Amino acid sequence: MQPNALQNHFRMIKHLVSITDFTKEEILHVLKLASDFEQNPNQRLLHDKVVASVFFEPSTRTRLSFETAVNRLGGRVIGFSDARNTSVSKGESLKDSIMMIANYADLIIMRHPVEGSARYASEISRVSVINAGDGANQHPSQTMLDLYSIQKTQGTLDGLTITMVGDLKYGRTVHSLIMAMSHFNTRFRFIAPKELQIPGEYKRFLDQKGLPYSEHRELAENIQDADIIYMTRVQQERFTDPVEYEKVKNVYSLRNSMLEHTKDNVKILHPLPRVNEINTDVDDNPKAYYFTQAENGVYARMGIIAYVMRESGLI
Ligand code: CP
Repeated sequence: MQPNALQNHFRMIKHLVSITDFTKEEILHVLKLASDFEQNPNQRLLHDKVVASVFFEPSTRTRLSFETAVNRLGGRVIGFSDARNTSVSKGESLKDSIMMIANYADLIIMRHPVEGSARYASEISRVSVINAGDGANQHPSQTMLDLYSIQKTQGTLDGLTITMVGDLKYGRTVHSLIMAMSHFNTRFRFIAPKELQIPGEYKRFLDQKGLPYSEHRELAENIQDADIIYMTRVQQERFTDPVEYEKVKNVYSLRNSMLEHTKDNVKILHPLPRVNEINTDVDDNPKAYYFTQAENGVYARMGIIAYVMRESGLI
């Protein structure tokens, strides 16, 4: 391939690394695709395609729902869920790993513990890359399923109050969701211990957008006006000092009794896995939505894959 042709070839490829890679219109389009796939999940758009599902960090929902999405779309999956069983254990670099994987697959879905790794992979890969979570940075496919869940349960994305609870410092799902909901005139409440407050860059982002937010420590007294309560786990794996983790690991636990005076339409979301931050007595409350939210991940990820592949001219 000549240099210009090579550049054009790379320019055509659509990636999803950060939710900000998609405009508001693209987000709404993918949500529409998700809804269509939920109505009719067995479509074979990927019947001749191979998708690499490469997880350098543990996952249950993201990996299995992406792989289910590929299977529902008629594609085939290669990959790994434990990088120790790959040549990474022999010292192979991420660059070389991605160059190899791009030789075998039409699309790469990657989770990696290092922030920025997905952007780096997208810059060197000759096939599309979907970020399935890079460290504490971004988790855009989770955001798409969160948006889909919010839209389904509230009937709109506009003008809602989203209350985010727990690890707002390292929580990549929180960071991606703030950026996505900033398109929709959202009011945010942030509930976190001082060690896990929302980083300044996200507050500055909201300030620039003119969107209101408030910060709180207490859980029970700050959820009454929420349309969505977005619970998150305190992530042990993000702490370098175990003593710091011990201080905050059980800081919040949402219990059924706390929901008595919340709005009728409120739904409790959680990207999962949970540890102690939602008591199991909440599970049977109709306001609990986190297990259906995880199911929505299949449809949202079908929408993302179909969109990225179409935009890249592959289907
Ligand atoms: N929500 C989420 O990313 O879950 P997994 O870590 O199980 O993929």
